[in-house]
Amino acid sequence: MTITKPKLVTIFGGSGFIGRHVVRALTKRGYRVRVAVRHPELAFHLQPLGGVGQIQAVQANLRYRWSVDRAVAGSDHVINLVGLLFESGKQKFSAVHDFGARAVAESARAAGVPLTHMSALGADPHSHSLYASTKGRAEAAVRNVLPEAIIIRPSIVFGPEDNFFNKFGNMARISPVLPLIGGGHTKFQPVYVGDVAEVIARSVDGVLKPGEVYELGGGEVLTFKQCLEAVLRVTGRKRWFVSLPFWVARLQGRLLGYLPKPPLTRDQVVLLQKDNIVSHAAKAENRTLEGLGIQPQTIETILPSYLWRFRVHGQYSSQTPA
Ligand SMILES: NC(=O)c1ccc[n+]([C@@H]2O[C@H](COP(=O)([O-])OP(=O)(O)OC[C@H]3O[C@@H](n4cnc5c(N)ncnc54)[C@H](OP(=O)(O)O)[C@@H]3O)[C@@H](O)[C@H]2O)c1
Repeated sequence: MTITKPKLVTIFGGSGFIGRHVVRALTKRGYRVRVAVRHPELAFHLQPLGGVGQIQAVQANLRYRWSVDRAVAGSDHVINLVGLLFESGKQKFSAVHDFGARAVAESARAAGVPLTHMSALGADPHSHSLYASTKGRAEAAVRNVLPEAIIIRPSIVFGPEDNFFNKFGNMARISPVLPLIGGGHTKFQPVYVGDVAEVIARSVDGVLKPGEVYELGGGEVLTFKQCLEAVLRVTGRKRWFVSLPFWVARLQGRLLGYLPKPPLTRDQVVLLQKDNIVSHAAKAENRTLEGLGIQPQTIETILPSYLWRFRVHGQYSSQTPA
């Protein structure tokens, strides 16, 4: 009798916010997971997400092609979740998003294994934002190298350890005012990290259409201001909103961008100038969560489970403070 080993999935960026949820979704399905990260010694927190020997961490840096090939060797599926929010040192958008995505795609093609590539809504080679333009070039490179690769484009992703709602939850805790960048009119479609992980796991299962681009948004379209109102509602706080014109926010972002871990960069402000929602074409062609039969989780259900730590004790209310 021959015993077949469960499939091995290599995840670049598996130690990040979305990566952790993808690792959990895959181990639950019984896959073996190889997490390829720059500092494997910092990926021990992933071990409880799988059984004994189910998760291994290996060293890889997308800026070094040989390390990518080494991490891909022997895998049955490759996922690239690596992304930057801001540049620092050698971690440039062009090197990590653009060159790195091509390196992973070439490596997956050479190994003859399928690839799921994580992009973002708004990815566009012609965007004025470096994040969005390098994400757009990455998509083009992936498509060119491996036409059957599956590309996932989420809107802003929420869940424990997210970068958006936690940031404003913390800001609401210490600051009397919250900034409405560009008046707070930009539209988002926040999508739950667990829903994103489920789609990626289905991609590994082989149930998504090869060569397709999936656009993932939650059930509600919310303006930037409505997102902040949700944070205040959940944390039971009352704060003033201050409208910041885009040009002022860009200036502020440029100055904050010199910090080692900037809370806001000029590039992020440029990104905020465009709505971040699922396209009509994706909806019409069922390249969405709903199209895959997944009912998106709402922020009202999930935010209280992790923003509680910014809450005024006993003040949670389902109404927006006046
Ligand atoms: N979070 C969102 O709201 C959102 C929305 C749309 C799209 N996305 C996309 O989703 C993906 C994952 O996002 P996330 O929020 O989970 O990001 P994250 O928490 O910052 O995780 C990024 C991951 O990339 C790894 N990484 C960074 N530079 C690397 C390099 N040179 N070589 C190898 N690994 C590297 C990081 O590990 P080390 O730094 O330890 O190596 C980490 O595991 C990204 O592509 C992002 O653009 C995210």
